[in-house]
Amino acid sequence: MSDLAGVRVLLGVTGGIAAYKAAQVARLLVGAGATVDPVLTAGARRFVGVATFEGLTGRRVRQDVWDDIPAETHVALGRAADVALVYPATAHVLAKLATGLADDLLTTTLLAATCPLVVAPAMHTEMWQHPATRHNVEVLRTRGVHVLGPDDGPLMGGDVGPGRVVAPEEAVAALARLVAPVGDLAGERAGDLAGRTVVVTAGGTREPIDPVRYLGNRSSGRMGVALAGAAARRGATVHLVAAPTHLATPAGVTRHDVTTAAQMRAAVLPLAADADVVVKAAAVADFRPAAVATSKVKKEAGVPAIELVRNPDILAELGAARAPGQPPLLVGFAAETDDVEAHGRAKLERKRADLLVVNDVSSTDAGFEVDTNRVVILGRDGSRTVVPLAGKDAVADRILDEVVARLPARDG
Ligand code: CTP
Repeated sequence: MSDLAGVRVLLGVTGGIAAYKAAQVARLLVGAGATVDPVLTAGARRFVGVATFEGLTGRRVRQDVWDDIPAETHVALGRAADVALVYPATAHVLAKLATGLADDLLTTTLLAATCPLVVAPAMHTEMWQHPATRHNVEVLRTRGVHVLGPDDGPLMGGDVGPGRVVAPEEAVAALARLVAPVGDLAGERAGDLAGRTVVVTAGGTREPIDPVRYLGNRSSGRMGVALAGAAARRGATVHLVAAPTHLATPAGVTRHDVTTAAQMRAAVLPLAADADVVVKAAAVADFRPAAVATSKVKKEAGVPAIELVRNPDILAELGAARAPGQPPLLVGFAAETDDVEAHGRAKLERKRADLLVVNDVSSTDAGFEVDTNRVVILGRDGSRTVVPLAGKDAVADRILDEVVARLPARDG
């Protein structure tokens, strides 16, 4: 690994047991040619030693904002950094970063830094899943912070679950991708979707019952939004047809907001006519109430019987309308809870898609409302690609790799 040659990395280490792995991160970064400025918080220093990091990086470990006032250490370090990594990032430091608190050298330095910031959270599952942490992570993401992991696995004290810091190698690879030369942001994938039009659907549709109620589902839209962002980074013209989601629109993506399955169909069909690829990551309601009450259904009228009717299957319609071998390339998703791959294969055939991404939404670390996903990509051509648990951005790129491999070469 020498893809970080000459890159100056600010390595923030915060107070969790995973701090010991930050030593390996430092070693890998130095091995890849980076200059590493380690900043250890007081909590980190209870777990790991300053001497370890000085020895590994050959540089002084900065500890205190008060150490050398004339040198303005925090401003100097912040300005000098090409990229900053907080590894591990505790729930506490995520909260401080989300609110802009600056009460130690690391947080003041990160406020002064304008470079890309990557955080690798590590904490117990309960802390990771706490609404406060979820909110803070969302705030950081919408601000453009790259959140790596956490992984699922053994945690301190014998617990097991989401909250384990990503492997040092994964963190270093993520930094290498970020600091790739301008115009090559996606590394070797740069520009491989240039000149292509990609339509992505995301989120869960809502089918109204009356003016205040609807039938909905748990899809957050994260996977679709990650796909839209990844396709745009790889050079595509991207249309995101989004069912209600609070997620921000990624840079360079044109968003079309819809609520119901019928609206999604009306938005997708004309866009698909000019698209090279349609990715149906949305969770589209299969049924809608046959009639929508014009005023709020009152309980005095008794328990209502809601008659449901089938919604159009947008993916199946696109599959049926397409002549063999003609665009667009169709990618479906299947959220399943049992016999995951068998259902996926059947769906792939039924809907005449080219690729079907299957995930097991019964696990707690993949599927709905989480930042990670573990999927299997099934191809019409019989292929089967397993994507291990990873952040949704990384999964999005793996899915797009399969798409790119199947796109017909362009004329000229
Ligand atoms: N899909 C669609 N229109 C629908 C229902 C689903 O376009 N009315 C798409 C989804 O966006 C997804 C794929 O079809 O890409 C599979 O969705 P899923 O809900 O898993 O499949 P269903 O066909 O609804 O099958 P079931 O609910 O019986 O598992």
